[in-house]
Amino acid sequence: MQTPFSRNIIVTENLGKSVKTSGGTLHILSDISLQVASGESIAIAGESGSGKSTLISLLAGLDTPTIGSINLNGKSLTSMDEDGRAAMRNQLVGFVFQSFQLLQGLTALENVMLPLELRGDKKAKDAAIGLLQRVGLSERLTHTPRQLSGGEQQRVALARAFVSKPAVLFADEPTGNLDSKTGAKIIDLLFELNQENNTTLILVTHDQTLANRCQRIIKLAAGRMV
Ligand SMILES: Nc1ncnc2c1ncn2[C@@H]1O[C@H](COP(=O)(O)OP(=O)(O)OP(=O)(O)O)[C@@H](O)[C@H]1O
Ligand SMILES: [Mg+2]
Repeated sequence: MQTPFSRNIIVTENLGKSVKTSGGTLHILSDISLQVASGESIAIAGESGSGKSTLISLLAGLDTPTIGSINLNGKSLTSMDEDGRAAMRNQLVGFVFQSFQLLQGLTALENVMLPLELRGDKKAKDAAIGLLQRVGLSERLTHTPRQLSGGEQQRVALARAFVSKPAVLFADEPTGNLDSKTGAKIIDLLFELNQENNTTLILVTHDQTLANRCQRIIKLAAGRMV
């Protein structure tokens, strides 16, 4: 079947991010050049502080690099202003933050419905219930994040990221708060959705089982690909 997305959904050239600190310039990422094929699954590994979260924030258009270029689905993300990047995120990207970032005043169901409602989707509720069922939370629809465990919040965040069928799903430690049984179910779900929708998966993970399921592992050390 013809995919509507570019063959290479992400291309970066010599991407770098540095910040000025009181101790001088800190190079968080340097010389990252990659090509990600549409539908590919990639694990990003590396020690704490090696730049994994920063890298996926850049690729998703949530942060801007100091140097280098990012092309997302054939368009230059690095030439766009914040409004342009927001439109690209809205069209193409699902993101699961390391800290979940669910809206505290909304229920699990409302959190998952939100991305679809923002698009004016009339079937937001059915789609959100469907995904919450798939992450095993049909009994928790009306709980707010504070009434959910860490692993439950993580699963709501995954459902929210997947509900709009993004071309690329970025997830920062998607199994980090889950026991091995729940983790295994979530890993299966990630790859089911990867197959069903040709969703490109870019997953930061320390979980070897998850990394091994991915087609490629990118390892970072001190902000460089090794
Ligand atoms: N805005 C910033 N200002 C200064 N330093 C920063 C900033 N953002 C990130 N860093 C530093 O850059 C490095 C990489 O951070 P990042 O969050 O990408 O690491 P990580 O690989 O995701 O680590 P972890 O596995 O602990 O989540 C860290 O040393 C961090 O302290
Ligand atoms: Mg991180």
